[in-house]
Amino acid sequence: MRRHAYHLTTFGCQMNEHDSERVKGMLEALGYVEADQRGEADLILFNTCSIRERADERFIAHLQEAAALKRRAQGTVIGVGGCWAQSVKHEVFERFPYVDVAFGPGQVHKLAEFLTSESLSAQGFFEFESFTGDLPPRRARPHQGWLQVSVGCNCVCSYCIVPSTRGREVSRDPETLLTEVRRQVADGVSEVTLLGQNVNSYGRDLPPGRRTSFADLLARVDAVEGVRRIRYTSPHPKDMREDVIRAHVELPALCEHIHLPLQSGASTVLKRMRRTYTRERYLDRVALIREQLPDCALTTDIIVGFPGETEAEFEQTLSLVDAVGYDGAFTFLYSPRRGTEAATLGEQVAHEVKVQRLERLVDVVQRRAAERAQRFVGRSLEVLIEGPSRTDPARLRGRTRHNKVVNFDGLGEPGDYVDVEISGASSQTLTGAMSLVARAAH
Ligand code: 5AD
Ligand code: SF4
Repeated sequence: MRRHAYHLTTFGCQMNEHDSERVKGMLEALGYVEADQRGEADLILFNTCSIRERADERFIAHLQEAAALKRRAQGTVIGVGGCWAQSVKHEVFERFPYVDVAFGPGQVHKLAEFLTSESLSAQGFFEFESFTGDLPPRRARPHQGWLQVSVGCNCVCSYCIVPSTRGREVSRDPETLLTEVRRQVADGVSEVTLLGQNVNSYGRDLPPGRRTSFADLLARVDAVEGVRRIRYTSPHPKDMREDVIRAHVELPALCEHIHLPLQSGASTVLKRMRRTYTRERYLDRVALIREQLPDCALTTDIIVGFPGETEAEFEQTLSLVDAVGYDGAFTFLYSPRRGTEAATLGEQVAHEVKVQRLERLVDVVQRRAAERAQRFVGRSLEVLIEGPSRTDPARLRGRTRHNKVVNFDGLGEPGDYVDVEISGASSQTLTGAMSLVARAAH
């Protein structure tokens, strides 16, 4: 009998990539093999995102292609998981009757139950039950592991769909997390990324005897032998406390990079976004970071064209970005999301205005990022090799502790740590060559 083959396409954030690794691990445990092409699979899966409208549109085009494949190959099963599925729930079957199974984020267990049940033809939407993180993954990169510290989010940012798709925040037990880290290290992982919608509020919901702050959790992960790099995403500026900033100074494995989502540089917009911090308070956090960690890379997320955003408000974002000098930024056009407060506000900003503002913002972000990157030129940086360079396969590609991509000449395998002499820097990437000493030792 032919083995079942699956094909999985992932949209969205690192949470979804993490969930997808668990889906793959689970399917392979059930005897499925991964198909290279969607057309070769009898189980076609999507892990969806709904953070912005474009994500929905991209996904629906893929879904329609899957429907066409299913018309040709009867018996193909189509499954849709993740945030978009959660936000539309049963409606998915009305709008897309060829979908067989839908499940929300973190409901991979339920998918297994569905696949092993008798009636693959019954449509169903499955509700949340436990952490996907408890399932064994099949990692995309064997040396990099995700650690989902919590699910859900208690914030009420008025533009964001996440609180409605991923629910209230629930932290995982610290002992479970540490066991998971040790297991990852035994599997060959040396870089661990802690994931949560708002990692700084980790642990506040744990029962009194188990209560652990995020800074404590970082220290405990750092103490695990074999963990060489720790990253986390994302903190919320309102909860970014000094203990976490100090942890970057004190813990050898914690990388010199902080992603601190700004969203807007105008206090008035931040208020309408319900971000609960002001421009001044954000700048205060940045000053503290720069004082304790002058070399730390700082990146951010910014939304342009939030409802009612005036030219003067937008200019405050520009001036903040210029003043801070980020090492990089993800910039987004505001996109109204169903069921969110901001979608009901009048005064939506015209699309052309949003696009122009985005271009102006990207200019400042890139100019400042390129300037900031010059500080690496002439330095020797530790690089974790990821594979061949995307532009020149004769070279290697890896990442520094600052999370900068480096394309360089040298020898090594994915997962190796090497020292690279940096000779060039642009806003996005660094270039260089492996240090002679490191090369000789190889
Ligand atoms: N429109 C545009 N960008 C959004 N983000 C979240 N919701 C929206 C939205 N409705 C951005 C924020 C967040 C990042 C993950 O996506 O900047 O930090
Ligand atoms: Fe991730 Fe948010 Fe997209 Fe869900 S909606 S996949 S949490 S970015």
